[in-house]
Amino acid sequence: MGLKQIDHGSAEYIKMIALRNEILRKPLGLSFSDEDLESEKHDTLIAAYDDDEMVGCCMLCKLSDEKIKLRQMAVHENVQGKGLGAAILNFAENIARDKGYKTLFMHARESAVGFYEKLGYQIKSDVFNEVNIPHYVMEKRLEV
Ligand SMILES: CC(C)(COP(=O)(O)OP(=O)(O)OC[C@H]1O[C@@H](n2cnc3c(N)ncnc32)[C@H](O)[C@@H]1OP(=O)(O)O)[C@@H](O)C(=O)NCCC(=O)NCCS
Repeated sequence: MGLKQIDHGSAEYIKMIALRNEILRKPLGLSFSDEDLESEKHDTLIAAYDDDEMVGCCMLCKLSDEKIKLRQMAVHENVQGKGLGAAILNFAENIARDKGYKTLFMHARESAVGFYEKLGYQIKSDVFNEVNIPHYVMEKRLEV
């Protein structure tokens, strides 16, 4: 498995949108608008590969000089439960740490809370609705 940053607007980015659509949006009957995608121009885009196939992804979006948000964490359903999600999140944490951020947080789907807890994240909010499903704010201090 390989992990790398990809560029907004590249052929890899198009593949990432397809993966995110399949794993995160289609099951909810939703899709991405052009505005959604345009707003990602300055984010850090991360993709995971098995041979040449993209099998996972996530994004990092700056909130402040101290805090960065993880979004769009997805692993292809054929390869879930094999440690790929943990590897992607570790990679994202290392990038965030290298950029000087102190805290990584996310809006975690209720169904994924156990995954983030395994990786050291704590729930920091009451339950709230996003994309029509329950979420929690979860976060972790990044050790230097
Ligand atoms: C959630 C997701 C990213 C996890 O990736 P993954 O590759 O399947 O997870 P891993 O195999 O790396 O799991 C790491 C650990 O978390 C646990 N875990 C994984 N998914 C879990 C879940 N949904 N609930 C509880 N624990 C979970 C695993 O059992 C494993 O534990 P272990 O270290 O004791 O063996 C992936 O299942 C996915 O894309 N799901 C659908 C989309 C989604 O919900 N994304 C998150 C949006 S907030």
